[in-house]
Amino acid sequence: MNDDHDDHDDDHDRAQADLPQRRSVTLSRRALLGSTVATVGAAAAGGFAAGGFAAGHLIAPRSPPEAVAAKAAVVPASGVHQAGIDTPQQIYATLVAVDLTVGDAATLRNLLQDLTETIARITRGEDPPPSPLFPPGASVPTDFATGLSPARLTVTVGLGPRVFTLPGVERPAPRRLRELPAFDGDGLDARWCDGDLLFQICADDPQVVSAAMRSIRARIPGYATLRWTQSGFLGVPADGGTPRNMFGHKDGTSNPRLGSAELAETVWALDDEPEWFAGGTYLVFRKIRMKTADWDLTARDEQDAVIGRRRSDGAPLTGKAEFDEPDLTARSGADPVIATDAHIRRVRGIPMLRRSYTYDYGQLIATAGGSPDPTTPETQHEHAPGTPEHTHGGHGAIDVGLLFCAYGNDPDEQFIRAQRRSAEQDRLNRFVTHTGSAIFAVLPGFGDDGYLGDTLLRGRGGG
Ligand code: HEM
Repeated sequence: MNDDHDDHDDDHDRAQADLPQRRSVTLSRRALLGSTVATVGAAAAGGFAAGGFAAGHLIAPRSPPEAVAAKAAVVPASGVHQAGIDTPQQIYATLVAVDLTVGDAATLRNLLQDLTETIARITRGEDPPPSPLFPPGASVPTDFATGLSPARLTVTVGLGPRVFTLPGVERPAPRRLRELPAFDGDGLDARWCDGDLLFQICADDPQVVSAAMRSIRARIPGYATLRWTQSGFLGVPADGGTPRNMFGHKDGTSNPRLGSAELAETVWALDDEPEWFAGGTYLVFRKIRMKTADWDLTARDEQDAVIGRRRSDGAPLTGKAEFDEPDLTARSGADPVIATDAHIRRVRGIPMLRRSYTYDYGQLIATAGGSPDPTTPETQHEHAPGTPEHTHGGHGAIDVGLLFCAYGNDPDEQFIRAQRRSAEQDRLNRFVTHTGSAIFAVLPGFGDDGYLGDTLLRGRGGG
């Protein structure tokens, strides 16, 4: 390696150091080169036949102190509201939905009490509590996370509509909790829909998310069975601004600011809700496949017209900067500058907190027979006129998209209204298919001596 190369790597390393939250998962190019050299060297010395590769599969990234400090940050689990909603979005998430197998409120309360203790501990970076389910001598199921930092882990819990029909759940269901209606264009797969309990697990370290998922899963035998999981990440730009989705657009610009009165008015349960639900909210989940092959063959100007904002800087087509207000009345000759079917015009001003994550499952799910099925015409993309003849690489079957998560206190007036308007007319529809769907009442927060769901279940059967 020559000196120029090293300088370049140092710049690269400095740039990475400015991104503390991403640093620990980013191997520097030098580290990667080092790993290649180590593996090839060992192979040359010992030969592959002698039993495999060089010892050690993981290369330690050099973590600057500020990155270590950022990873050590703890988001308290207790409070008026659950953590993971009005919380700066972490970079990784797994959503887990389970079906309850318990038949009454008392057992549900036991499960929620156990989960509360587990969540409170793991979000502080501690091991989960012992469980009678673990055989003597077993290590706790998460000990592969030993030594990892909490990485701002949050676990946010919601209840699906069926839970409120369990015997012994005597307090009324949240007023606005109803199964979502069908929307035109839906391509839902039952395997990614619904569920009784939802866990939104978020952290700045994917292994912490994975460990938390294992900790939660380890508490549910005898109470519930896994229904679906979805995992995603955020594309945070180098300038730390609004994340970009798989179409390259900044996504989240018009969200209410964290900690603002606007967010509180949009998200937290309204006064006419049952008293026990104060501090709670609703979560609408949609798994949305994004047809990147079609998108990539679309000209940038048209992409911008589809959204109504510029992909380059996120500015509305009528403005100069990302946070300029879109002007829906502006015209260019006879035509509106922001088209009548542009995504932001169709959903403009409908309040909600979008806290979504990108997913990329490659072709794994497709080839495992899941959705999208690569043999269906739905996975084919159309070629623009003038495209030369070529053989196909199967990129129409790539399963990437958005784990769309919308928090709000009035699903009818928020998500459902927006989705109806979008399903009816939205230039984005050609590029997306909704394949999963669920709605949950997200429980209020809990006090230091309380537990998740205590306001719903307390006082019934001695709890
Ligand atoms: C994969 C599917 C989707 C993509 C790629 C997408 C992309 C975008 C982008 C790039 C923006 C502009 C930046 C911003 O303000 O965040 C936006 C805005 C927005 N989107 Fe979506 N979106 C998708 C699905 C949805 C769905 C399903 C809904 C709700 C039904 C929705 C509701 C909104 C709302 C409310 C805004 C803000 C509009 C405003 O007031 O300016 N989006 N979306």
